[in-house]
Amino acid sequence: MTDNPDNLRNYESREVVSYYEKQTAIEPCEQLLFEKYVPPGSAILDMGVGAGRTTPALSGIASRYVGADYSSAMIDSCRARFPGIEFQVCDATDMSGFGDGEFDAVVFSFNGIDVISTDEGRARCFSEASRVLKDGGVFIFSSHNARLLAVPPDYRGGSPLQIVWRTIRAAGASIRIFLRGYRAGVFSSGRGYVRDPWDGGMLYFVSTPEVIRREAAAAGLALEETVGSRYPRIRSPWLSPWHYYACRKIGFSNENGDSLRRG
Ligand SMILES: C[S@@+](CC[C@H](N)C(=O)[O-])C[C@H]1O[C@@H](n2cnc3c(N)ncnc32)[C@H](O)[C@@H]1O
Repeated sequence: MTDNPDNLRNYESREVVSYYEKQTAIEPCEQLLFEKYVPPGSAILDMGVGAGRTTPALSGIASRYVGADYSSAMIDSCRARFPGIEFQVCDATDMSGFGDGEFDAVVFSFNGIDVISTDEGRARCFSEASRVLKDGGVFIFSSHNARLLAVPPDYRGGSPLQIVWRTIRAAGASIRIFLRGYRAGVFSSGRGYVRDPWDGGMLYFVSTPEVIRREAAAAGLALEETVGSRYPRIRSPWLSPWHYYACRKIGFSNENGDSLRRG
């Protein structure tokens, strides 16, 4: 069913689930896109919900909210933490449990889409997200930046000692990511799959906004907005570990993958 059993095994592990249970904050880039593209009263599918980091924010404004994830361990955690809220085990490459045009917004936060590790699987995810959206509905997701030059340290809330440690860690991560991207050829091509040995050995996709624009357009989704993951502190695309995207369902695409308005 899934394209990569190793990645799924990682998300089924107790250690990884408990890491995600501790994540509660909505990032400013997410807040920006949620406020702009997901008005109160929307029907929302929160795909790859993990342990429910985005559940309070999105379920609080939704007319209908469904959290979904292909990891049953993540869904068990969500059901225990948010009783009364609807959660389903569902693979993003096969949303056949949902009907056409059921949702105003589909959200796949924190790079979950990059864990789908084949081009066919990614294409199915885009076309399934498009299918379950109403015309005019929005798909919000993020994807790792293939052209990341350096990882800026996050100094928020850090003591002087933590600031030194975070600087050293960010320098190490920058060198490692640059070398990995260079060796895999993704820096020049702007797309591809990389394995990060420091991240549980997960295989994940990296991309550029241009690659995402084409993938989305092939599924009838038009890229409307790209926001760097460190917005508003850092706006440079070279220093954003990933980008958030908002794509609107506007119909179908031509043979070049350009989205065309219906009618
Ligand atoms: C990086 S975690 C993010 C979790 C959560 N969205 C958050 O922001 O805290 C990615 C999540 O996507 C889920 N995921 C990955 N591939 C998926 C797929 N094909 N279908 C559904 N969920 C998937 C994983 O199980 C994991 O919970």
